[in-house]
Amino acid sequence: MDLKITKLPGDGIGPEVINEAVKVCESIAEKFNHNISWEEGIVGADAIEKVGNPYPDETHDKCLNSDAVLFGAIGNPKYDNNPSLKIRPEQGLLSMRKKLGLYANIRPTFTFKELIDKSPLRKEIIQGTNIVFVRELTSGIYFGKRGRSDDKNSAFDTCSYKRDEIERLAKIGFNLSMKRNKKLCCVDKANVLESSRLWRETIQKMESKYPDVNVSYEFVDAVAMRLIQNPSSYDVLITSNLFGDILTDEASVISGSIGLMPSASIGEKTSVFEPIHGSYPEATGKNIANPIATILSSSMMFKQLGLNKESELIDYAVRESIKNGQLTKDLSQKKYVSTSELGDWIVKEILKV
Ligand code: IPM
Ligand code: MN
Repeated sequence: MDLKITKLPGDGIGPEVINEAVKVCESIAEKFNHNISWEEGIVGADAIEKVGNPYPDETHDKCLNSDAVLFGAIGNPKYDNNPSLKIRPEQGLLSMRKKLGLYANIRPTFTFKELIDKSPLRKEIIQGTNIVFVRELTSGIYFGKRGRSDDKNSAFDTCSYKRDEIERLAKIGFNLSMKRNKKLCCVDKANVLESSRLWRETIQKMESKYPDVNVSYEFVDAVAMRLIQNPSSYDVLITSNLFGDILTDEASVISGSIGLMPSASIGEKTSVFEPIHGSYPEATGKNIANPIATILSSSMMFKQLGLNKESELIDYAVRESIKNGQLTKDLSQKKYVSTSELGDWIVKEILKV
């Protein structure tokens, strides 16, 4: 199969982890006789520095014309503590999501048996956790009207949702739960927010189309608690942009390192695959970042493209690396392998099978 993939390394550790994922994709292409033609685009602080725009049109065109996009990370501390800056790296990510119509962000949370002791949570609590978040990604408070009063002493952000935005997201949630344990939890704050009441109303109306799915509705504050008390009680969770942002960071702690968790942002045309971690500026250029989140994102990419065997082989090789104690510094402070050593190990395992 001929595949056109655009890579967007971005900022911080982005280029390092993307490098490893590209190596892995190439080894999969070799193994399964695919031909990947790579494009590269600039985003984030890197693009601001180069062309003054965190998501240039040229990058957008490359993404639009690809079968998939592999994305590294965005962000630079230089921009974080100056609220008056007009252009910031994160805007690049948000415009990419909006312009590519990446309305559903799929973020799995799972554990590796061998890493069960790396989690700050007790083994008996997290064992067997296997949940998937479906986070709305192109609407809600991230994209609502915002502003300041004339005297600058008050500010507002608006959370607004349309019924069809909720429906298309919920469809993904329902379909995913049909393939899994048929349990769907709708996370909202319907005891306070009108937009959450629209979420409930919309999803309740869809229930009859999916009679096999057991749907529950829970408030986000309670979910935040139950996620770390009893994570395996969940299967698929669907939620709004902001709640999903917060809960997926919280959930990533269960696995022992945020450096392990991948994601897929499903678009109207092209989809984007990216680790859920950020640019990790402290580790930039040190060859210590964990490339697994990005490598597993490339596995989600192959799966989305209908290439299941390719995806399964990547998952297998990653599991083998962990079983064989090939751990980066986030998981093993004293004795660890570097980012590129781990990538090489996984490639070797893929080619060996
Ligand atoms: C994420 C990130 C982004 C978000 C930031 C960088 C804008 O935290 O992908 O979860 O808030 O969505
Ligand atoms: Mn986040």
